Amino acid sequence: MKGIILAGGAGSRLYPVSRIYSKQLTLIYDKPLIYYPLSILMLSNIKDILIISNEETIPHYQKLFDNGSDFGMNIEYALQTAPNGIAESFIIGEKFIGDDDVTLILGDNIFYGNLDFIYRAMQKNDGATIFGYRVNDPERYGIVEFDDAGKAISIEEKPKEPKSNFAVPGLYVYDNEVVNISKNIKPSPRGELEITDVNNVYLQKGKLNVEKIGRGVAWLDTGTPESLLQASNFFGVIEDRQGLKVACIEEIALTKGFIDKKKFTEVLSKIPKSLYKEYLERILKESH
Ligand code: DAU
Repeated sequence: MKGIILAGGAGSRLYPVSRIYSKQLTLIYDKPLIYYPLSILMLSNIKDILIISNEETIPHYQKLFDNGSDFGMNIEYALQTAPNGIAESFIIGEKFIGDDDVTLILGDNIFYGNLDFIYRAMQKNDGATIFGYRVNDPERYGIVEFDDAGKAISIEEKPKEPKSNFAVPGLYVYDNEVVNISKNIKPSPRGELEITDVNNVYLQKGKLNVEKIGRGVAWLDTGTPESLLQASNFFGVIEDRQGLKVACIEEIALTKGFIDKKKFTEVLSKIPKSLYKEYLERILKESH
């Protein structure tokens, strides 16, 4: 299974900061936003990752992650010249995906909680697997409608009159067909290759599995300054209470066995004196 993080886009809702850096680099409590979706792929045991972004932002990601070897991963980068739609990821990523299945996560999507549902869904994926999460503001998302038996029967992108409150989060698991499907859909009226259109192709073929996510999992919004502050507060509270960091990619690399203690120590030696470093030193001491 390959992983793609789509982390470009205009981010204009965050103007004026969007003039100088992209939303996915924004600090969520103590680390850039993109660490959170990256950690989800790592926790799913995906080590081959393509980060797709724009010309200005790719160098920043390269500074953060380089080729991924510090985390025992292979991280590559690809350019999206304009925000032509989420489904363009699979056209841009065609060579990277090769003959594999692929999981796409949006670089501004944060999940927290017991994520076993994701790992299970990946393992049994046959076609496409997406998720449904109950939200208060369904007009803002891709919305899935279920029949009485709980089977998905329609998906609409940002419907004015939503048929349910179940939004589709930015985490999508596909078989290799997704590349061809993405090549064959047409841009929507807003000029984008819509991920919802890809999902509808799978739905029509009877190959779309929609898993409802329970309320014990947090899927946080990061679209506005207010929601970014809420996300920061959320992780500030949890990290302070537990004394453990969420989405600390060095820690995950160690605990998942992507890197050994020797490599971890080498990575540590490159980190400047900081609270982050002190945390990693403690993790090393406590690991056995
Ligand atoms: O967050 C989940 C929602 O994401 C889904 O429910 C919707 O079905 C899906 O269309 C998408 O809706 P958004 O309105 O949130 O998409 P947005 O255009 O904001 O893009 C999501 C992220 O992907 C954002 O951080 C920018 C990035 N992006 C987006 C597009 C369209 C790109 O890097 N390139 C793109 O071409």
